[in-house]
Amino acid sequence: MTVDDYSALLPLLNLIADGEVHSGVDLARRLGVSRAAVCKRVKKLADLELRVTAMRARGYQLARPLEFLVPARIIEALPANLAKPFPTIEVLPTVGSTNSELLQRARSGQAAPGFILLAEQQTAGRGRRGRPWVSPFGRNLYLSALWRLESGLPALEGLSLVVGVVVAETLRSGFGIAAGLKWPNDIVVNGRKIGGILIELDGDLAGPLSVVIGIGINIDMTEAATQGIEQAWTDVRSETGTSVSRNDLSAQVIAGLAQALERFSVTGFKGFRQQWCRLDAFHGLPVNVSGPGSSSLTGIARGVDETGALLLETGEAVQAVSAGDVTLRSGR
Ligand code: BTN
Repeated sequence: MTVDDYSALLPLLNLIADGEVHSGVDLARRLGVSRAAVCKRVKKLADLELRVTAMRARGYQLARPLEFLVPARIIEALPANLAKPFPTIEVLPTVGSTNSELLQRARSGQAAPGFILLAEQQTAGRGRRGRPWVSPFGRNLYLSALWRLESGLPALEGLSLVVGVVVAETLRSGFGIAAGLKWPNDIVVNGRKIGGILIELDGDLAGPLSVVIGIGINIDMTEAATQGIEQAWTDVRSETGTSVSRNDLSAQVIAGLAQALERFSVTGFKGFRQQWCRLDAFHGLPVNVSGPGSSSLTGIARGVDETGALLLETGEAVQAVSAGDVTLRSGR
């Protein structure tokens, strides 16, 4: 879909986002186009996986109301003292990846630390280890936050686990979801993934560094989009049985992030270790850890150490593993 297509579709979407029936005549008048043009644009909404029912002599109705992300609404929902660390919030209708875009803006001096970039849709959303991140329009949360670290790489140790804690705690306290963590930073509910974190860096590894913290949370996934997801997944809507406000959820994540980053710069991961271990969904369970190469380890998951490395009990010893993918070992 081209940028021009978007520019034509967004005003229409704004009018029908409430999920009510809107007559073609009224929409045509309000958009200043012909009824045939309205009809054409409605058909084009299918490209965004948005279902619209066309009712003879009555009009058009979006199958599910759509809540657009609006910076002013997010800022309004933030506690005043926590709005400060992230003074700029921008929402793009579509982008390749919020992380890539923010990294690029940081590099070219177009985004200052504290910049938050959200998108309604990502056409090339990225997950850990080069995997794609399925990002349909208007359904989920795709958020990247820019942070600056003066002191270089070692001070970042465990940051992605801390962001996992923020997301899991937000889903628990704000939405009553039994969210837990799968090392290093998958957010899971009963073994199904509901969110993930991708942290990317730019700059001198000795410091200063631009740190882009990318957060993806499934809120109301479309069936069609999930064809592309290989692992078991869930979303906020399935877990709560209701639709939640994406603006409120964004605000709660941003507030949690602001508090956690402030604490993290004082304590490092050490200060979050206990909290991470309390949320550990795999504690005491037999797991396989497949390394970045073809290596693989088997053992019992025993939480994490003070650097955020996974503690794996293999026979007599407990090994600290700093990279890899955890899967539950079958045949328990
Ligand atoms: C994972 O594989 O678990 C990490 C997923 C991270 C997805 C988020 S969505 C916002 C940001 N932009 C991206 O392209 N990826 C991250």
